Amino acid sequence: MAEAEADPKEENESSYQRYKILISSLPKDEGWAFENYFCHYQGFWYPDTYCPGVLAVQDHFKARSSDIIVATTPKSGTTWIKALLFAAVNRGMYPPTYNHHPYMIDSSSRIVYLYRNPKDVFVSMWHFNNKIRATVSKPPLSAMEAFERFCKGVSQFGPFWDHVLVYWRASLERPQQVLFINYEKLQADPGGVLKRVAHFVGFPFTSEEEKEQGLVDKILRLCSFENLSSLEVNKTGKIPEGLGYGAFFRKGKVGDWANYLTSEMIERIDQITEEKFHGHGLKF
Ligand code: A3P
Repeated sequence: MAEAEADPKEENESSYQRYKILISSLPKDEGWAFENYFCHYQGFWYPDTYCPGVLAVQDHFKARSSDIIVATTPKSGTTWIKALLFAAVNRGMYPPTYNHHPYMIDSSSRIVYLYRNPKDVFVSMWHFNNKIRATVSKPPLSAMEAFERFCKGVSQFGPFWDHVLVYWRASLERPQQVLFINYEKLQADPGGVLKRVAHFVGFPFTSEEEKEQGLVDKILRLCSFENLSSLEVNKTGKIPEGLGYGAFFRKGKVGDWANYLTSEMIERIDQITEEKFHGHGLKF
């Protein structure tokens, strides 16, 4: 007799109960903004609300060979690289002059990892979380308080340095699969980086597209800080928790940390970076 097929609803419920038990046993620390707390799982800190999703992804997600996956730590320029990749990969269907360009549709796959100087990531994260805190009537975190947490590694998906190292090592071991790029280079040579990324994900620009049609420049303009931040959707749209999309666009500059960090903070974060990256051949 054929075995009765498992009911997917029941399976989901039983997985969720299993995840809840596991999550309740994990070490916890204070969250920064929306999350009630962070859970420490397999070496990284996750917002409590993300934990069941993380476990479900580990159990069930299988990347297809055609997938393109964008990976970053928060505040490293995710919004920018997502827009650039989407515009480059879909330039046939949605030319970059298109008025209603559907920037952010999910198009997961090969891994493009964007990292950013930890000092700028920290400053960006501190501002961003204080904007979130304001929407839920929490008092702002002082720079010092947020800095302590960041240095301890207790930040979303932190420790920041360990996150970067996982992808750095993967990019050395599997260069065909993981491309490691940085925000500072993207600012300094956006066209060069965009061409490299497009080539890596299998959508290289032809010389005609670049030189005669000016597509690289058009995509850069379409995804520029000025253009993205002035789009109506980003001025008025909100994430479900109530924070406006505008919070994802602050200054978009390299080196803003110099306006916020004391010399002691700079020394401390530089020392952590030096220690963590020592022997890995990775420099900021
Ligand atoms: P700042 O807070 O330093 O300005 P994420 O998208 O990972 O949350 O990263 C947000 C950071 O990227 C913010 O940095 C934001 O201003 C910057 N950013 C967003 N869009 C950008 C763009 N098109 N060009 C350059 N920087 C951008």
